[in-house]
Amino acid sequence: MLGLITVVFLGTGCTEVGDPWLVSVDVDSSTTQIDFATSVVPIFQTYGCNGCHGGTAGLDLSSAAAVAAGGNNGPSVESCDASGSLLIARLANCSMPPGDGCLTPAELAIVSQWVDEGATETFVEGTCD
Ligand code: HEC
Repeated sequence: MLGLITVVFLGTGCTEVGDPWLVSVDVDSSTTQIDFATSVVPIFQTYGCNGCHGGTAGLDLSSAAAVAAGGNNGPSVESCDASGSLLIARLANCSMPPGDGCLTPAELAIVSQWVDEGATETFVEGTCD
């Protein structure tokens, strides 16, 4: 399944978030659909994201609605638009998680596809049509 997912980094600016990466994810979404709880949450758990983003203050990553509500800089996801989403920018440039960690390209592709499919709690056919 992951073999279908490739992440392409282009060296052009993503001006909205002042990020040097434009993330474009090429996936065959007819065969892969991303649910938040089953596919995205485990990645957040791997990197301890919820230890800092658990909902007491600022960004809460515990549900799709909370991610959409966002943090200090507003919504963390732009539904159906991974390349316009703060969450993806912060993961792609490895500024989240802070320190040495960085998502693998495959993990980044999964989170990006989740946003490109609408960033809903469970996959909803037609959200981004
Ligand atoms: C050690 C604590 C810590 C961990 C772990 C952490 N973050 Fe953060 N995160 C922060 C802090 C503090 C900020 C706000 C300051 C900033 O923007 O750099 C932030 C900001 C963000 C923002 C921008 C929110 C906004 O509105 O500005 C996103 C998106 C984000 N984190 C996602 C993640 C994700 C996804 C992970 C796991 C891969 C993660 N973070 C892990 C501390 C953490």
